[in-house]
This record gives sequence, structure tokens and C-alpha cells, in this order.
Amino acid sequence: MIVKARVKQEQSTKYDIHLSNIDAIEGFKMIPDHSIDLIFTDPPYTKKTMYLYSLLAREAKRILKKGHYLFSYCGNYFLPDVLERFHAHLKYHWLIVEPHTGTHPIHWERRIVNGYKPILMYSNGPPIYKCILPDMIKGGGKDKRFHKWGQHISLPLRIIDKFTRKGDLVLDPFLGGGTTAQACKLLERKCRGFELDPESYQIAKDRILEPVLTEY
Ligand SMILES: C[S@@+](CC[C@H](N)C(=O)[O-])C[C@H]1O[C@@H](n2cnc3c(N)ncnc32)[C@H](O)[C@@H]1O
Repeated sequence: MIVKARVKQEQSTKYDIHLSNIDAIEGFKMIPDHSIDLIFTDPPYTKKTMYLYSLLAREAKRILKKGHYLFSYCGNYFLPDVLERFHAHLKYHWLIVEPHTGTHPIHWERRIVNGYKPILMYSNGPPIYKCILPDMIKGGGKDKRFHKWGQHISLPLRIIDKFTRKGDLVLDPFLGGGTTAQACKLLERKCRGFELDPESYQIAKDRILEPVLTEY
């Protein structure tokens, strides 16, 4: 099912957000070549879903405008595999680090107390420099209100604000509870998003249909 959500506020049509309850494999097919200004996403990080990072990188190369960026969260444990998959199609730019607030999880297998979340930054070919970005960005802490793996909105807000302008088109192919879409709504960016799980999709859709609240 494809839902076209054009959120109206004070009779304005400034929000252009289309979310689809489909597999990203199918979703990418709807996106024309070199039409996306920024991909900001958070694919699942499990051994079984690593193929999604290859799909993401291959499609990012096709749909991102030249020199534009993909930002992707990634589990620390899977970094080597993800880097390899991304390198096959995109140009490495930097590793952004979001320090954990509160308790630090322990990775027992490696005996590591993990203090940060990595966010990979890749460009489609030689990068266009749009702004200066610190590589350590304090997030807003945990926010699991919309999804069990939900991210706090503060980091996507900051990245999308810095790397796009009003009316630019942002894609999140793995929406979860719709944090990227909500950031796009608050910043008046266009957004396309895909989510496989019907429940998460419904939550993301409801979230962007709500009137703008100060939730960050
Ligand atoms: C880590 S969560 C995203 C959480 C999101 N950043 C948030 O703040 O709510 C990843 C999401 O990708 C979805 N997903 C997994 N495989 C998918 C696929 N093939 N196509 C689209 N979505 C998929 C999962 O259902 C899950 O909701």
C-alpha cells in the first residue's frame, strides 16, 4: 500500500511527504536516477540483513545527485562488513560519532563497553562541500516512543538542516517509527520513505500526520 501524505497546516501545503509500506527493494524502483538530495537512514543491523547495506549503497549511487551524501547508522560490530559493502559503490567521507547518554551497553563477546553510535557518511562520487560538520555530535538520548530501535530526532534534524535546503528531497528507505520523516516535516523538506513492517509504517504515518509539536 502506498500512502501519499500531504500534511496541511494552516491551509499550506508545505509538507510533501510520501511514505510507503513496502520492501525497500521495491521502493527504490520508484525513485528516479539522481533525484535525491540526501539519504538519511538506519537499516537494521543483523547478520541476516547485511545484504540491505549493499542494496542501499548500490541504489544510493543511482538515485543520489552527484556529490551528495548518504548518512547511515550502523552497528559497531558490523562496521567492517558495512564499510566493504559501501566502498563498492560510494566514496567514504567520514565517520560521525554520537556519544551514548546514560548507561553504556556492554558488548560481552568483545568485552567492550560501548560509548558511542557510529554514523557513516559517504558521498556519491567526489563530495560537494556544503558546510562544516563536527564529527562528534551529541544526540538527544534514547527515544523509543515510536519504535523499539528508534533514534532520537536531534541528530537527523541537525544533519538534514545542514545538508539540505527547504524543498530538497530526502529519502529514508528504512523508516522504522518515522524519525527521518518527522525531521523533514519540521524542516520543511520533501521526504520519501519505505517501511516493510505494517505496524511501524502505521506509526510513522500517524506521526507525520499529527500537527507539528515540539518533540525535540
Ligand atoms: C533500525 S529500524 C529504524 C528506526 C528509525 N531510525 C527510527 O528512529 O524509528 C530499521 C527498520 O527497517 C525496517 N526494514 C527492515 N527490512 C526492510 C526492508 N527490506 N525494506 C524496508 N524496511 C525494512 C524494519 O522493519 C525497521 O523498522
